[in-house]
Amino acid sequence: MHATHVFTAAILALFSLSVLAVPSLVDLGYTQLQGRETAMGVMQWLGVPFAAPLLGPLRFSAPIDPLPTTDIVYCTAFRPICLPRQPSDFTMKPNRRFTVSEDCLFVNIFAPTNATEDSQLPVMYFAQSGGFQSNSNANFNGSQLALFGEIIIIKVNYRVGPFGFAQSREIVAGVSLNNGMKDIIQGLAWAQRNIAKFGGNPDQIVISSYAAGALLHVPTIWGNCQDEGAKNVPQSPNKTEDAFAVMQGQAFNVLSNYSLSLLKQTYLAVLQPVFNNSGVLWRQIANAHRFGSIDPEQERLGFGAYYTIELNVEALVG
Ligand SMILES: *[C@@H]1O[C@H](CO)[C@@H](O)[C@H](O)[C@H]1NC(C)=O
Ligand SMILES: *[C@@H]1O[C@H](CO)[C@@H](O)[C@H](O)[C@H]1NC(C)=O
Ligand SMILES: *[C@@H]1O[C@H](CO)[C@@H](O)[C@H](O)[C@H]1NC(C)=O
Ligand SMILES: *[C@@H]1O[C@H](CO)[C@@H](O)[C@H](O)[C@H]1NC(C)=O
Ligand SMILES: *[C@@H]1O[C@H](CO)[C@@H](O)[C@H](O)[C@H]1NC(C)=O
Repeated sequence: MHATHVFTAAILALFSLSVLAVPSLVDLGYTQLQGRETAMGVMQWLGVPFAAPLLGPLRFSAPIDPLPTTDIVYCTAFRPICLPRQPSDFTMKPNRRFTVSEDCLFVNIFAPTNATEDSQLPVMYFAQSGGFQSNSNANFNGSQLALFGEIIIIKVNYRVGPFGFAQSREIVAGVSLNNGMKDIIQGLAWAQRNIAKFGGNPDQIVISSYAAGALLHVPTIWGNCQDEGAKNVPQSPNKTEDAFAVMQGQAFNVLSNYSLSLLKQTYLAVLQPVFNNSGVLWRQIANAHRFGSIDPEQERLGFGAYYTIELNVEALVG
């Protein structure tokens, strides 16, 4: 090779360093996760521990960070989902999608193969439903969605039934309540810390779910209920600061300034009719109130869309 070619090659190598695709072996510092690439152009890391196994004396305790490993963790197959409330639950029946175990705090991650550590793709964080009695949308294959939306999909298991929601005097005194919810939050905190390494944007995580898993949405996602929502909305706000105070109050004071700026842009900055004896921002706040529209007609009119709201996880975790 001529010297100039060598020089060009070196420049190219340097240049390509910054746009290198996310490798299937992701190094998170405390552990290394080996995923696999599918033929369709999606990387997947399955069964990624986002908390330490809560077994033995740790049963019923709040989730804690995953343990560091020196060995590579192979994330090439789904791992067990959490034990349901009852042995008769459908997740206990033999099936091809999952097994169940007490050691179940895993996420599954799907990313377009061309994602890079700099790509900052939006992230969809999906918490399953199941009435807090089972992980009832377990191990869906997020590949198509990741590809279609050019987003990172992350799906979380969480403890349910007695493992997630046992209550007793002993538990109140000695351990921790509502662990299932805490697991979902732990997964979210894990994602915020680590998802950039998979090509995701930690500042743009949308929590997605329905039914039980959607309970966590209340403080995080605002949509519209044109009729329902307006009932509990204070009518007087005329100023953005007052509107923010209402929103923060609804959201347990965990919305960051970034979320508030998104809410402002999405709702408050939109011109709406002003009604007699009401503040100028009343309709805007009503539209931002609650989450999701239940009326297809309202949805058609553009209400009830889901927006990306940054959750101040540190405030939620405490
Ligand atoms: C998801 O679907 C894609 C495309 O059919 C396939 O390549 C991949 O192996 C599937 N992943 C899992 C975990 O089943
Ligand atoms: C990945 O590929 C898709 C589809 O070809 C393209 O639209 C997108 O811009 C690419 N993304 C990156 C980060 O290169
Ligand atoms: C948000 O903005 C307000 C007003 O600018 C500021 O006082 C506050 O510290 C900010 N909060 C955060 C969490 O950055
Ligand atoms: C609002 O106030 C104006 C002016 O006082 C009045 O003409 C109008 O009828 C009022 N509208 C309603 C819906 O009360
Ligand atoms: C906002 O403006 C309306 C209409 O002028 C008024 O009735 C209301 O008291 C104002 N709200 C506040 C908080 O000042």
